[in-house]
Amino acid sequence: MAAVIITGTPGTGKTTVSKIVSKTLNTPLIALNELIIDKHLYNGHDDEKGYKIVDMEALSSEINLILDSTDKQLIIEGHLAHDLGVDEKVDTVIVLRARPSVLRDRLKKREWPDSKIQENVEAEALDLCTFESVETHGDKVHEVDTSDLDVDDVSEIIIQILNGNKQLPPGKINYLEELF
Ligand SMILES: Nc1ncnc2c1ncn2[C@@H]1O[C@H](COP(=O)(O)OP(=O)(O)O)[C@@H](O)[C@H]1O
Ligand SMILES: [Mg+2]
Repeated sequence: MAAVIITGTPGTGKTTVSKIVSKTLNTPLIALNELIIDKHLYNGHDDEKGYKIVDMEALSSEINLILDSTDKQLIIEGHLAHDLGVDEKVDTVIVLRARPSVLRDRLKKREWPDSKIQENVEAEALDLCTFESVETHGDKVHEVDTSDLDVDDVSEIIIQILNGNKQLPPGKINYLEELF
């Protein structure tokens, strides 16, 4: 019925941290990357950039169906999760963040072209996910800087936010200086 969104630039820790939060809170988890592949919710592949071209309409419909089929809270994890067109069903949006140097190191472990890594590091430095999340979800949005935390710390902070024991409104993070 209601959803918790965990979003952020690739490499900020969404998949790893969401699994821990899901297990700890015993709340089901939808990983968008997996759902998109399982249900074939894409229209091909951008070979130059190395991305799947996600069918956002089909993805939104699928998520709507899932949310309408249960009274339980769900966690939805993915870098498109703040943009699913299910705004009124969203309780809380967590944007995971990581400093450019940290993010670059994490992404270097993926076999991505440098251009794709750079593109994501720049998007992160420009607060793109936070900006888009706030545009759609307003004051439901919290930001967690994961740069100096381990995955268990990040998970614990998210649980505190979801329990109403912590507030991390956006606006405190500025990575631009490090980028330039
Ligand atoms: N807080 C963290 N501290 C250190 N390493 C992390 C942290 N969060 C994620 N990682 C590592 O960064 C990589 C990317 O994490 P992942 O969960 O796949 O991110 P995403 O799903 O956002 O792309 C993984 O190797 C993961 O172990
Ligand atoms: Mg992931």
